[in-house]
Amino acid sequence: MKLGVNIDHVATLRQVRYRSRRKVSPWAEPCLLDAVRAVEQAGAHGITIHLREDRRHIQDQDVWTARRLARLPLNLEMAASPEILRIALKVRPAEVCIVPERREEVTTEGGLDVVRAGTRLRRTVSALQEKGIVVSLFIAPDPAQIRAAAATGAEFIELHTGAFAEARNAAQQAKERTRLKRAAELAVALGLRVNAGHGIRYTNVGSILKVPHLETLNIGHSIVSRAVMVGLQQAVREMLQRMQSR
Ligand code: PXP
Repeated sequence: MKLGVNIDHVATLRQVRYRSRRKVSPWAEPCLLDAVRAVEQAGAHGITIHLREDRRHIQDQDVWTARRLARLPLNLEMAASPEILRIALKVRPAEVCIVPERREEVTTEGGLDVVRAGTRLRRTVSALQEKGIVVSLFIAPDPAQIRAAAATGAEFIELHTGAFAEARNAAQQAKERTRLKRAAELAVALGLRVNAGHGIRYTNVGSILKVPHLETLNIGHSIVSRAVMVGLQQAVREMLQRMQSR
């Protein structure tokens, strides 16, 4: 199974300091390109970023930087909005995962409401595919959404693992995992390929591996959080060394 690392929260941390700048330097800390290189060197299989309509973390320039300089395939998460679609068609990432951003686009479980947005989504999917971009739809493990996703012509779905990740006890987690398993089986039977993401952590990834047919897990928050912890000692030591070296 492959790992796509979502580095949005590296940009979240950067934007805490640089939000007021109209244009952020590509070297502003923490540097997104350094994050791309670290992910690559660690052996991951893809870089994932989400260009949100409100630009709360990833900026337009980051998308271009990642597209030009990442050696791994770039998976761009985006809402199916005309503005972001225009950018995606110019940037041409290897893959686009269409995600909901507005309340009316979201199903009860947090995935894209493909059943409601069918026709509009189909146009977005084919516009992206015409540029050679592989398209994935981020949906809840719900049979109606999976059937609707297959009808759009998208190659992939990304199963929303949020309900699984937030399960309060082992029984609920097992129930959610069964839903993911059935969803993956239905998707494959309909000719779709299957990824998964949201809320996957070091402590629950083992359980996710039991879901059949998954190709890529997209993981962000947990990896970036862990990076802060495993890197903090070295960061403090390096600053102390500089302070002591004069
Ligand atoms: N997959 C998709 C489609 C997402 O939008 C996100 C970010 O919420 C993720 C995966 C990664 O989720 P997390 O940061 O919880 O690992």
